Amino acid sequence: MSLEKPVEDLNEDEARAELARLSDILGQANTEYHTQDAPTLSDADYDALKRRNASIEARFPALKRADSPSDQVGASVSEGFSKINHRVRMLSLGNAFSDEDVADFVEGIERYLGLGDGSGLAFTAEPKIDGLSLSLRYEQGALLYAATRGDGSTGENVTANALTISDIPSHLENAPDILEVRGEVYMRHADFEALNSAQAARGLKTFANPRNAAAGSLRQLDANITRSRPLAFFAYAWGDVSSPFAETQFEAISQLAIWGFTTNPLTKRCTSPQDLIAHYREIERQRATLPYDIDGVVYKVDRLDLQSRLGFRSTTPRWAIAHKFPAELAWTKLESIDIQVGRTGALSPVARLTPVTVGGVVVSNATLHNEDYIAGRDSKGETIRDGKDIRIGDWVQVYRAGDVIPKVADVDLSKRDVAAEPYIFPQICPECGSDAVREAGDAVRRCTGGLICPAQAVEKLKHFVSRGAFDIEGLGAKQIEAFYHDTHLPVREPADIFTMQRRNAEGLARLENRDGWGEKSVKKLWQAIDEKREIPLGRFIFALGIRHVGEASANLLARHFGSWSAFEAAAIAAHEPGSEAREDLLSVDGVGEVMANALTATFHQTAERASIDRLVAELEIVDAEQPYQSDSPVAGKTIVFTGSLEKMTRAEAKARAEALGAKVSGSVSAKTTLLVAGPGAGSKAKKAAELGIETLDEDEWLALIGDA
Ligand code: IVH
Repeated sequence: MSLEKPVEDLNEDEARAELARLSDILGQANTEYHTQDAPTLSDADYDALKRRNASIEARFPALKRADSPSDQVGASVSEGFSKINHRVRMLSLGNAFSDEDVADFVEGIERYLGLGDGSGLAFTAEPKIDGLSLSLRYEQGALLYAATRGDGSTGENVTANALTISDIPSHLENAPDILEVRGEVYMRHADFEALNSAQAARGLKTFANPRNAAAGSLRQLDANITRSRPLAFFAYAWGDVSSPFAETQFEAISQLAIWGFTTNPLTKRCTSPQDLIAHYREIERQRATLPYDIDGVVYKVDRLDLQSRLGFRSTTPRWAIAHKFPAELAWTKLESIDIQVGRTGALSPVARLTPVTVGGVVVSNATLHNEDYIAGRDSKGETIRDGKDIRIGDWVQVYRAGDVIPKVADVDLSKRDVAAEPYIFPQICPECGSDAVREAGDAVRRCTGGLICPAQAVEKLKHFVSRGAFDIEGLGAKQIEAFYHDTHLPVREPADIFTMQRRNAEGLARLENRDGWGEKSVKKLWQAIDEKREIPLGRFIFALGIRHVGEASANLLARHFGSWSAFEAAAIAAHEPGSEAREDLLSVDGVGEVMANALTATFHQTAERASIDRLVAELEIVDAEQPYQSDSPVAGKTIVFTGSLEKMTRAEAKARAEALGAKVSGSVSAKTTLLVAGPGAGSKAKKAAELGIETLDEDEWLALIGDA
């Protein structure tokens, strides 16, 4: 790079040639980075070349190329894969970490189905493959597409790549007209080692573990690269099917094998929790000699009719669970403790560690949760780590919890420096200097700065544009951080995102003239923002970043209230304890006092309200659809169950009613439209009678929903 002629010495011809050369190099670098997952240029060199390109363009504006690399930033992601909506969502699994968790899982199912203890209910147990899931849709026996899981609803079309995997048949004989086969793409240890050696020999990026290698290889835009990377596939589940093809999980898996899929040979049918645990131990014993990575054992209810009665929670099935292997551990040194301020003001201590490999991944940070945790106490005030506190300079044992966020398991006091002092947790926000206070009963210390705290504001904005929220293409965490501090086009609150284009048009330092931006990339950004002006209510509520309101709750709230105006009115009115509005809010599945308080508090803070109002003025919030069968006889009704039910448990009755589009409430009020009363119904039945509410017994209820 040092041999390049300084920009100010270039004549016009040289400048033209240089722009062509830079466009070539940078274009090539982009392809390597985005398409081939194998960059050959360091980030610093890449940036230097881009700057050189921009300064030549600034000196010779007329020479700027139509395909100028300057216009390709800000929207740097290549076209990528087309998107596919899964007809049946791809869910994740709940976790069990101990034998007790497994017993609880089995008992919970028996209770839900109203079966006695030790019912002999059958399960399958099979290894949990550490790869990435893939859905294969076959129509009339031919593979129509292969899609990654993505966010569970929408994945990426990787058909060409999937067809390079020899475990995946392109045709099936005697299969239902429509059949989606699901399973895990993974890479065997030997293939992983060989791939890494080959990559290293060519000076290319190596992968941290087989899972990353499998993911990086499957998501290649060039299928020829995928072909050169030996991937494998185990089939273990299915999605959309036009006609049932088995009665049990075990039979279904055997049928998948008959169609030509590879299924896992360690799949076993078990009939008691003891059986499940025994098979878990057996798989655990074989783990070290298996040719691929597994991270636990998956248990599934065997009978498919029971699976469908059990159904799903918001993101996980009730009929399956992953029993995880204990996390790997490693000792390392705690270098320092940083305090991060989150969007709700929580001060979160983060351990900065001497990097260490844990379970195939290099760990250099770990969460320390809060000040009690550092001091050696859990949220209930009970001692953890035998009461050992954590001090800077300590040797700490770290593990990857649930294989994601590393945590500290233990401290080696024998290695502690005699001069090490207990850690003193800051009492003021390190970002804005406001007091940081702990409310009674809360383990977390919070900055009181609210919207004036830049850290809170930035985190709130990052959450706002995140995947489950507004998900604006080209406006990720990095860009948010930059625009927050931008003097000409600041984005300090969500509404600012939607006024950017207007403000930019009126402002001086226009975005399109800045380094790293061009007409094209700016236009693309405005487009991406405009596309999200119309937003579904559930996403919108989630995007607001209200404490305790996660994605699932936001969707339930949306479904309950239907429209933004109804939700807003309810959140304001529910401030009043004991009011009907509050009761109504509390009747929403998953909403308790804590969430209700967080919601009403948000709508009673003047600054916060004003900020939300400014945002709403820029948007069109789409009413929540009734995603369930709106033609069902109970859609839209508010139902209360009381007394004992004999044909199904209360939990199952509630889940069935909700799946048919009804709301289920715990108490009878003027809003109740139907009471289902079993034997022993008392005060609720009386109140319903007084209010003239329609009342059915269990058989009438089953007849109504067509289950009798
Ligand atoms: S069943 C509705 N079986 O684990 C449940 N999943 O943590 C469908 N996985 O997304 C999943 N091995 O990618 C199932 N034998 C197995 C599995 C398995 C690995 C993955 C899968 C899923 C994730 C959930």
